[in-house]
Amino acid sequence: MTWEGRRDGHLTVGGIPVERLAARVGSTPFFAYDRDLVTRRVAAVRAALPDGVQLSYAVKANPMPALLQHVSGLVDGFDVASAGELRHALDTSTPAERISFAGPGKTVEELSQAIAAGVTVELESETELARVRAISAATGIRARVAFRVNPDFTVRGSGMRLGGGPQQFGIDAERVPEVLAGLGDDVDFQGFHVFAGSQNLRADSICEAQDRTVDLILELAAVSPPVRYLNLGGGFGIPYSRRDHPLDLDPIGDNLARLMRERITPHLPEARVVIELGRYLVGEAGVYITRVVDRKESRGTTFVVVDGGLHHQLAASGNFGQVIRRNYPMAVANRLGEPLDAPVNVVGCLCTPLDLLGDRVELPRIEIGDLIVLFQAGAYGLTASPTAFLSHPAPVEVLV
Ligand SMILES: Cc1ncc(COP(=O)(O)O)c(C=O)c1O
Repeated sequence: MTWEGRRDGHLTVGGIPVERLAARVGSTPFFAYDRDLVTRRVAAVRAALPDGVQLSYAVKANPMPALLQHVSGLVDGFDVASAGELRHALDTSTPAERISFAGPGKTVEELSQAIAAGVTVELESETELARVRAISAATGIRARVAFRVNPDFTVRGSGMRLGGGPQQFGIDAERVPEVLAGLGDDVDFQGFHVFAGSQNLRADSICEAQDRTVDLILELAAVSPPVRYLNLGGGFGIPYSRRDHPLDLDPIGDNLARLMRERITPHLPEARVVIELGRYLVGEAGVYITRVVDRKESRGTTFVVVDGGLHHQLAASGNFGQVIRRNYPMAVANRLGEPLDAPVNVVGCLCTPLDLLGDRVELPRIEIGDLIVLFQAGAYGLTASPTAFLSHPAPVEVLV
C-alpha cells in the first residue's frame, strides 16, 4: 500500500511521526486523517472531471466535523443521509441549496428539518413525496425535491449494489412518469439522482453506468418539468488489498466530457450536473492506529493482541458486507523497513473470534508497545463500527 508518509523508518501522518502523534493524542487507539491527502485527492478528481461537472461529498463516508469543515472548502456540495449529518453539513459554509438529503425511511421530523433548511430532498418513495407535500402545505415552505430513481439496470463490479432490481432505494424508473404526472406546483422540482452502486474499481463499468443513467434521465426528462439538477452518482472504489488495482480516473473523465458535450448540455442546458463521492475522497487519507498489548503463542500460532478492534474499525475485520475476508493493509509504525518475521495473527481486544484484524500477516518482529497502523481507514471506519460492543471507550479522531 502506498502510504506516502514515512521518515527515517517511521510512519508519519501529516508529516508527524505516528509515535509522536500518539503522544499528542494521549491515548490509543485513534483515527488520524491527513488533511493534505484529502486536498490532493479532491484536486485529482477535479482535474479529471470536465468543466461543468460538480463534486459532492457523501458525508456518510466520514462525518467527522473537522474533516467536513475542511472538505467543505474543496467540494461543491454535500450529500447527507440523516438529520444528524444534515446538521453537521449546515455547520459548514456549504450553502443549503448545495446539500442533498438521500436515504430511505426519512421521518416527518427529518423531512421537516430538511425543508426548513432549504436543502434538496431526494425522494425515495411516493410516501415520502406525500409527506413532503403535506409539510410544504402546513409550513408554506416550497420544498426543493429531486427524484431518486431506481434504474432498470445494474452496475457490474460494484462492491455494494444500490440500484437495479427490487430496491429500498429510489422510485422504480418505470413508476417515475406517473408520479411526475401527479406533481403539482406546491413542490420545487429540481431533477433526478441515480446512485446504482459503490466501491467499484472498474472504470469501464462506471462509464457504462453513467451512459445508461444519462439515457434513462433523458427519457424521464421528456415528461418532467425542466431538469435543474442531475446527480449521476459515483461509486468510485479504492484498493483494499494487493489484488485490487486503483481506479483509473481518466477514462471516466473522458466519458463524462463526451456525455456533457453530446447529450447533457444540448438536452438539459439548465442542469447542475453532480458526481457524488464518499469513500474515494477520504478513504485512503485515514489510518487507524492501535497499540500492541500482548503477544502470545498458542499451539504454533502467534497472536499479537492490540488495544483496538472491530468495535472501531469493523471493515478491517471483514464483517462490513465483504463476501471474502481479506487482510486490510497494515504496518508497524515504528518498524518500517525492518525484515519480515514469521506470519502472525493480529487480533483486537474484543472477546469474540470475529475480532481478527490480520490473518497470518507478515510484519517485522512485533513487541508489546509497538504501534500497528491499519490503512484505508478514512471512510466507513469509526461511524460504520459497533462502538458499543463490549463497552470499551470510544477512540479519538484527529485531522492532521
Ligand atoms: C446515495 C449515496 N450516495 C453516496 C454514497 C457513497 O458511496 P461511496 O462512499 O462508495 O462513494 C452512497 C453509499 O452508500 C449512497 O447510498
